[in-house]
This record gives sequence, structure tokens and C-alpha cells, in this order.
Amino acid sequence: MNQLERLNQLPLRDDLRGQHPYGAPQLDVPILLNVNENTHGVPADAREAILKAVAEQLEGLNRYPDREFTELRTALAAYLGHGLTLDNLWAANGSNEVLQQLLQAFGGPGRTAMGFPPTYSMYPLLASGTGTAYAAGRRKDDFSLTAEDAAAQVRAAAPNIVFLCSPNNPTGTALGLDVVEAVYEAGEASQAIIIVDEAYAEFAHDGTPSALSLLPGRPRLVVSRTMSKAFALAGARLGYLAAAPEVTDALRLVRLPYHLSAITQATAVAALRNSDSLLANVEDIKVQRDRIVAGLAALGLDPAPSDSNFVFFGGLENPHAIWQGLLDAGVLVRDVGIPGHLRVTAGTEAETTVFLDSLASLLKG
Ligand SMILES: Cc1ncc(COP(=O)(O)O)c(C=O)c1O
Repeated sequence: MNQLERLNQLPLRDDLRGQHPYGAPQLDVPILLNVNENTHGVPADAREAILKAVAEQLEGLNRYPDREFTELRTALAAYLGHGLTLDNLWAANGSNEVLQQLLQAFGGPGRTAMGFPPTYSMYPLLASGTGTAYAAGRRKDDFSLTAEDAAAQVRAAAPNIVFLCSPNNPTGTALGLDVVEAVYEAGEASQAIIIVDEAYAEFAHDGTPSALSLLPGRPRLVVSRTMSKAFALAGARLGYLAAAPEVTDALRLVRLPYHLSAITQATAVAALRNSDSLLANVEDIKVQRDRIVAGLAALGLDPAPSDSNFVFFGGLENPHAIWQGLLDAGVLVRDVGIPGHLRVTAGTEAETTVFLDSLASLLKG
């Protein structure tokens, strides 16, 4: 009996039958450029500060942590700026959990969430896990999305939740704020919660505005962020959002009690106190990212403009063969299932060189 058959013998919810769990391949490969982690590691001074902060929590670990994670919310508000205060901030174990809580509060049976694929593949999975229907909007053939087009689709679908991913995963490109404004207005009729997922915001080109600037006067707008990418803390699991205080009150209705451990809170607060050091590598990652875009174009491929720490590229006749060839060369990239395309995370300078050189020889071969 295979795993699916065994699973189907259980009294599983009908809507989960036949579904596959989210999972990028987890392989033991020297150069991991497949899940858009920060490849540059945690700097030594930040590691020391985190270690000290965590050690200070140990004596009190018999007690539940601060349910309101007040110090963390205050530190996150200070990091984001834009006049935000702790009442605007919320956090959870990764932005995946933040998004799940939003669906628990504002989605659910009889309600619909809408996204614009290709986009972050967890949106439909989070919708399905919370019994929320998922409506897939359309992009142009070049994967772009204009304000007018997005707004028309939102008006027609009248969803309860809209996911706008900016910079978008897997394409890497940021949306203009005109798209967010137009979608917000189009969602008025269905009172849609508009979630702008800015997981990669810190990697955007200079001058790319954040949807944080649109929050005043828009109580249905939510901007979600994470410490998994620019802050190099994917392993710590800390995602957060900024929104009107009533949105965070809604999330208090669905969060588990004490969902953020004392260790997580201490780690994130210490990281925010050392943000200069943690974010110092962002500039080099952007350099490597731009190097990949230029290098792929020089190889005759078709990279999408990227505001993130990864590059989505087309022009491949047989992406699976290239994926396998790179793996054989010790480089794991991501096949996101879009014909002719692959996605690669910006590595360190040395990793990026191995990726570009290996790809060049595979294309020649
Ligand atoms: C667009 C986007 N949003 C959210 C996430 C979730 O990140 P985390 O749960 O680590 O904060 C990811 C992770 O890759 C992502 O690409």
C-alpha cells in the first residue's frame, strides 16, 4: 500500500484527499539556492547577541511567554517606521502562520481568497487548510499585472481576501503601489482584506515604495513581512504584519494561546537590536542577484526583472534536464513547474559563480 492509499484509509476531510503537502525537495547538496533563504549566514556579532538574549530566558522557561509579545511588537514597529506603533503590529511563527491566521479570521467556509498565479504556492494551500475557496486571477503572458486588470478581476470575483505578493514569488518583480490602491478600491464592494505579502521587500531596488505607506486610512489593508529572508533568520520562524489595530484584534481571536515562544521572542528582539549587522549582507545579495540577471541574459536566457533575492528565468528548452545537471554539479535550484523556466536564489559570490559557470557549461553541452 502506498502512502496515499494509507492516508485515504483515514477519515480525512474530503477536501484534503488527494492533496500533496507543500515541499521543496530537501536534499543534501553543497550549494542550496532553492528556497530563497539568505545565503550569507548570520554574522558573528548578531549570533552572540541572540545567544545572550536566549540564555536570559532560560531561567523563566517554566512560565508561559508574554502572550502579547509587547517588546517584540514595539521593536518591529520601530524597524518599519511609517509612524506605526505596537498596536499596528502582529507576529507569528513565520509569515506563513501570519497568513494562516488571516485566513482563519477573514476566510473560512463559504468565503473566497484570490491570488494571481504564478505566485507564492502556499496561498491555495493555506486557503484549502482553512476551508476557504481559492480563486486564481490571471496575469499577462509576461507575468505582469496592471492596476486596471487586477481591479477588474477583483470586482468580478468579489473575494473576501486578496493576496498581492510584492516582490512576487516566483517571478521576483515588485508591483506598483497603483495596483495595491486599485485592488483596495475594487475590494470595497466585497469588503475584501487586501494582503500585500512583502516577504522580500528589503531586496527591492532603491526607490521601490512599500505598501506600508498606504496603510493610513485603509483598515482592510495588511502588509506582511518576515525575518526569514533579509534578516537571515529562516530557522527562527518569525513573520509579522502591519495593519490597523482592529485587524490585530481579529487575529487575537484565532491565534493559539502563547503561540510565540519566549525563545522566538528573545531571538527576534535581539536580531532587531542588531539589524544593522544582520542586514549588512542585503547589499551584497542584491549585487549577486543583479549579477545573475546579467549573467543569464548574457547566456541568451530570459531573466525576469528582480526586486528580490532570487531570479526567475525562462528560455530553457528542457528545464528539468538543466535542474538535474545543476544538481549533479552540486547546485540545487527550484523547478516551480512553469514550462521553460527555473528559479534560483542569489548565493554568496562564490556560490553564484559556481551556478553561472555550471549553467554555462550545461547550455553549451
Ligand atoms: C512570498 C512569500 N511569502 C511568505 C513566505 C513564508 O516565509 P516565512 O514563513 O518563512 O516567513 C515565503 C517563503 O518563501 C514567500 O516566498
